[in-house]
Amino acid sequence: MTMVQFDRVGKRYPGGKEALSGISFELARGEFAFLTGHSGAGKSTLLKLMMLMERPSRGQVFVDGQNLGRLRPGQIPYLRRKVGVVFQNHQLLFDRSVYDNVALPLQIAGYTPAEAGRRVRAALDSVGLLGMEKRNPIELSGGEQQRVGIAPCGGEQTGAAAGR
Ligand SMILES: Nc1ncnc2c1ncn2[C@@H]1O[C@H](COP(=O)(O)OP(=O)(O)OP(=O)(O)O)[C@@H](O)[C@H]1O
Ligand SMILES: [Mg+2]
Repeated sequence: MTMVQFDRVGKRYPGGKEALSGISFELARGEFAFLTGHSGAGKSTLLKLMMLMERPSRGQVFVDGQNLGRLRPGQIPYLRRKVGVVFQNHQLLFDRSVYDNVALPLQIAGYTPAEAGRRVRAALDSVGLLGMEKRNPIELSGGEQQRVGIAPCGGEQTGAAAGR
């Protein structure tokens, strides 16, 4: 089954040059793929098109059978719960604790505080950060901050931090 399909996708940023042109490929369920290219080649742009952080100038993108060009704005959060993204810059919120950063997407997804708490501790444990819940992300090393960013991706997908 096809999970991701790009059909002759082009992306031109306003006022900019063409970041992507004529991109077509398919990824099957369970397929493991690497996307490589020089700095500025368009890698982040391609990933942003998969989660509707950007929209293509031409062509069509499909994720899990859905044509992203046809998604209504209200459906975008549900798409992002299916697409786990580890950002180049981790997108943590520095005005709240490590715990609250990991808990936020769970609260949005409707988990009870008790269930969210259980999942937050399991997620932090899986990245070796149990015991850091009360810290502010600013007090952590770069690698520890990145691990907070990926903690919500462990186990069940929550779409944490997506789209911020
Ligand atoms: N918001 C934007 N507005 C205008 N141009 C942009 C924007 N974002 C990216 N670009 C341009 O689009 C091209 C592709 O950028 P992109 O961020 O996709 O590259 P990348 O392959 O992820 O690079 P890197 O390896 O440095 O992260 C670059 O020329 C970049 O300057
Ligand atoms: Mg990039």
